[in-house]
Amino acid sequence: MAEQDADNRVAAVVIMAAGAGTRMKSAVPKVLHRVAGKSMVALAIDTADALSPDRLVVVVGHQRELVTEHLAEIAPHVTIAIQERPLGTGDAVRAGLAALPGVVGEIVVTSGDVPLLEAETLIDLVAAHREGGNAVTVLSAVVPDPTGYGRIVRDGEEVARIVEQSDATAEELAIVEINSGIYVFDAATLGEGLAALQAANAQGELYLTDVISHAHDAGRRVGARVLADYLQTEGVNDRLQLAERGAELNRRILAHWMAEGVTVLDPATTWVQAGVDLAEDVTLLPGTSLEGATSVGRGATIGPDTTLIDVEVGENARVLRTHAELAVIGDDATVGPFSFLRPGTEIGTRAHIGAFVETKKAVIGDGAKVPHLTYCGDAVVGEGSNIGAGTIFANYDGLGKYTSTVGAHSFVGSDSVLVAPVHIADGAYVAAGSTITADVGPGELAVSRGQQRNIRGWVARKRPGTATAAAAEAALAPTEPREHAAEGTESGE
Ligand code: UD1
Ligand code: CA
Repeated sequence: MAEQDADNRVAAVVIMAAGAGTRMKSAVPKVLHRVAGKSMVALAIDTADALSPDRLVVVVGHQRELVTEHLAEIAPHVTIAIQERPLGTGDAVRAGLAALPGVVGEIVVTSGDVPLLEAETLIDLVAAHREGGNAVTVLSAVVPDPTGYGRIVRDGEEVARIVEQSDATAEELAIVEINSGIYVFDAATLGEGLAALQAANAQGELYLTDVISHAHDAGRRVGARVLADYLQTEGVNDRLQLAERGAELNRRILAHWMAEGVTVLDPATTWVQAGVDLAEDVTLLPGTSLEGATSVGRGATIGPDTTLIDVEVGENARVLRTHAELAVIGDDATVGPFSFLRPGTEIGTRAHIGAFVETKKAVIGDGAKVPHLTYCGDAVVGEGSNIGAGTIFANYDGLGKYTSTVGAHSFVGSDSVLVAPVHIADGAYVAAGSTITADVGPGELAVSRGQQRNIRGWVARKRPGTATAAAAEAALAPTEPREHAAEGTESGE
């Protein structure tokens, strides 16, 4: 690995990220918009890191406070260079070079808005630059529609210059080989070319691309590496392109996982972010979104309509119509449909969380079941226990939150409220409908509810003439004498 790093190593990478991105129509700087869960500038940094540059410079300008703050968080190793005004790509790289005094060797220049660019492509570009003995090597592509891109004007094998759309003649506009905006420069050639830049063009900008004609005219060798997979070079200028690049990156991530043995029933509605890890024989059903550092074990099935954010799913688990975040789901566990697992949830092996159950900071033991309509917050449920339908772990008293525990192989009857903090021991029962405010010992049954009273004749007296009264009368007729029904005596349980 170290050897490989030494081979790829370049003096510096400069990532241009100072443009205004006006077509995004956003209060958020363009390079902070996310593709596959990461900001575009973070993706550009990941790709650049593959070259192990001695220095990695990001040129910021428009809304630079926001970009700088983000960079400090996600990539503290980068050097930030400031472009005061957006005078063009040439000016942006000038600002980048100002942060690299005395730099010699190879400088890779790329953009913060090309989210599909792969590390392998940069490595290959540097290799081509070295093999060709070039002063500059441009990453180019032959595209179906070159509109808007700078066109590569060839001089035999070499590149003579790059002409921008707005400066091109009709003949030049017919060229389909485009400039991706990604280059390797010899530092001296770049410095000289930048010093000579003039804004004598249709846009009145300092064009980085003019460094190419400057080098060529000075007799230096400028090559172009044509990238067959041209989608990698496509940038993001507006929201439509943001969605298109996002869909393409997702398509590529899914293709990778399918090649690794994952079944994806409907790639169009399945979203998997770059940091996710999937084992063989995982099945992803339609409407599934796997985000952050989620991992799924061998043989597990996720979906349909499930979102997992930073969730660890065990082998052969089944997660159906669920929203989960920062949770661990054990091997062979079953979750859903309609479960909501919040941070701090840990579900044991073969455990079951069912419909309309919400968990938070809840540790559910192996083989335990919380099958229906429960809030399980700040809770520990022991191995093999059963939590009845509608049970509430009342964890909050309006001021603080407290934890309640249920031991192993215990049984909490339906519609119980466990008022935290309470401890229900191993092998204990709670009767249905109980409100539990005190601990329950091993082997005990806790019952806490009003005794049942049945008031005879109540319907006949209080609801005379109704269908209910008639039904009662009919039900009583064959077995009970009539006077008895109207007696109005009470009986206990
Ligand atoms: C540029 C190239 C064009 C190429 C295209 C590929 C030039 C003159 N043209 O055109 O040949 O086909 O990229 O996408 O270089 N930026 C700054 N500061 C500035 C201006 C731009 O940092 O003052 C940054 C932008 O944020 C962006 C990148 O540079 O990340 C490219 O800028 P953009 O304006 O999109 O260049 P294009 O006109 O697309
Ligand atoms: Ca662009």
